Amino acid sequence: MTHLFETERLIIRNWIPEHDAEQTFEIYSDPKVTYFLGNGSPVATIESQRQRLIDNLERSRRRNNGTGSWAMVEKATNTIVGTILLKQLPDKDGLPTQDYEVGWHLRHASWGQGYATEAGVGMLNYGFNVLKLPIIYAVVRPENHASIRVTQRLGMKLIGHTKQYYGIDLLLFESVGNGEWKDVETRGHKDTGTQRNDQ
Ligand SMILES: CC(C)(COP(=O)(O)OP(=O)(O)OC[C@H]1O[C@@H](n2cnc3c(N)ncnc32)[C@H](O)[C@@H]1OP(=O)(O)O)[C@@H](O)C(=O)NCCC(=O)NCCS
Repeated sequence: MTHLFETERLIIRNWIPEHDAEQTFEIYSDPKVTYFLGNGSPVATIESQRQRLIDNLERSRRRNNGTGSWAMVEKATNTIVGTILLKQLPDKDGLPTQDYEVGWHLRHASWGQGYATEAGVGMLNYGFNVLKLPIIYAVVRPENHASIRVTQRLGMKLIGHTKQYYGIDLLLFESVGNGEWKDVETRGHKDTGTQRNDQ
């Protein structure tokens, strides 16, 4: 099993389609989770969820640039609590741009515990320190206040509205991998985001 990194309460690891399909299907068949996502058709069965995880892994392998989506596993219970991703933003035609986004999806039962923020800190560390990205963006639907709060907890800066990505109106946030990011690390997140890039 390949761990990308660990945080205080989470393991961020590659998907294991056979093992993870059922738990992941439960997360993504909840309309509270998918309400603001709108990325393609909702998964109808555990089998199609399994195929999606296989496709995710295959896409990451093909890109071979360290980006992808990973399972967030709660150490205390060994349960998948969500997805954390770092990938190239698609333009309005779905083609990958040279801009990178961080993103988070949690199962509803795990909202309100700081897991998206904890995984987000780790993912920004990974993107800046391992992949050496100069800037990492987040795009959020303007009404998705919970996700906007995550960007604020991560110290990301609001740039404004954009229709450049995904072909819809989104709020664009950025984090810059220099002094601004160090500010976040010194705001009490020092224990999170220990890299283990042994992919
Ligand atoms: C967006 C989403 C991940 C936010 O989840 P969240 O639980 O609010 O965010 P966090 O994991 O950072 O948790 C922060 C909350 O936990 C609380 N919290 C508890 N313990 C905490 C800790 N140790 N550290 C930080 N926050 C903690 C915070 O006070 C905050 O609650 P509040 O907003 O009521 O003040 C979640 O709503 C979700 O998965 N939505 C569906 C998918 C989605 O829309 N994704 C975003 C697409 S852009």
